[in-house]
Amino acid sequence: MYSEIKVGILGLGTVGSKVAEELIERNEYHSAKSGNNSHLSLKKILVKSLNKERSYKVPTELLTENENDILNDPDISIIIEVIGGEEPARTYIEKSLNAGKNVITANKEVIAKHGKELKKIAVNADKQLLFEASVGGGIPIIQPLINDLAANDITAIRAIINGTTNYILTKMSQENMDFTEALDEAKSLGYAEADPTNDIEGIDAAYKISILASLAFGVDVKPENIYVEGITKLTSKDFRYAKELGYEIKLLAIARKDFSGNLQIKVHPALVDKESELASISGPDNAIEFTGDLVGHVTFSGPGAGPNPTTSAILSDLILITRGNFPSSYKINNDLLATPVLLPMESVECRYYLLLTTIDQPGVLAKIGTIFKKNGISISAVIQKDTQVSKGTAELVITTHTATENSIQVAINEFKGIDLIDSIKSIIRIEDN
Ligand code: HSE
Repeated sequence: MYSEIKVGILGLGTVGSKVAEELIERNEYHSAKSGNNSHLSLKKILVKSLNKERSYKVPTELLTENENDILNDPDISIIIEVIGGEEPARTYIEKSLNAGKNVITANKEVIAKHGKELKKIAVNADKQLLFEASVGGGIPIIQPLINDLAANDITAIRAIINGTTNYILTKMSQENMDFTEALDEAKSLGYAEADPTNDIEGIDAAYKISILASLAFGVDVKPENIYVEGITKLTSKDFRYAKELGYEIKLLAIARKDFSGNLQIKVHPALVDKESELASISGPDNAIEFTGDLVGHVTFSGPGAGPNPTTSAILSDLILITRGNFPSSYKINNDLLATPVLLPMESVECRYYLLLTTIDQPGVLAKIGTIFKKNGISISAVIQKDTQVSKGTAELVITTHTATENSIQVAINEFKGIDLIDSIKSIIRIEDN
């Protein structure tokens, strides 16, 4: 005697199609993994249009354009939400939980913005809201963080959690492409969407670090409170100088807790030691490094996007629910949710890389040194090439020792008032710990 577990899918895009295909073509395999004598059965899929041509042909009797055919069906006990975007996905998740269904979602935006409220609804309804696929695609990250690393006081997360931008940066670094060229190639290969704004401006990474930070630190970090800077201003020249200084450039999502319990959470391009594990992550892959008081550094890496890896994470959540292995720590985290003490960006400290063009005259370096000294900033290295960018100008790369964001911004503003400094081409933070 086995129990039939009926599943509804919301959305039939690239990820939804792969999930449906697995639940139809390999149903016996996934059912066997589910244990507890349970048998999975895909009952309905919500689509925008019944008539759309699809590469994987789902039996038409499984399709519906009416969400209520799924949300109001008492036989369906598990909902898989793969619509993406904030609405109507959030509303459907809330309705599903209130209707007593377990929910699995890949939706980073909904979990980042509304995770706290939705988790409360899930706890009150005694249902599960699982979202392994929302961060890092196929890389197991949510379950390891809340279960396998549970004994640790997590003090830092440093992550490459956007495959599109990592692909672009890899091309800029390895093939000297400029940003637009690399973005066009990413689009043509399907690594970047037609509108890549959320990826290249760092918004997607901010959603994901907000989810990880909320779980790791037991706080509710809203994405709008995270400092975000994308990769659009980086040039191939930055990559050349970074290499000369021993670095790669990566879009990092960082969450750190200091000794006083203050959190810094930010997304921005960063110079990372070229020998480091993060520097070696190439193409659309992702990597997430946790620092815990007991475990030290531990890094998870692998395919961060794409229909197959994302389906791997979604179906693992499904199997977890059917096995009854509920991650009860979600409830613990939920109880701990509190307002974080987020450090304002001006107070965050790090090292900096600056690329300036200056008038090639005596006294330029002295002037720069004076402004840095006034603002308590110490220079670490200077490169000036013997080649003129344009007649009478010089290109100057400066790296600094640790300084606050505020002191750098004040110094930069002072540079802008000096005739000898032609332009400030780049300011990139250095992450070397
Ligand atoms: N646009 C995302 C990325 C997809 O590039 O990583 C996975 O969330």
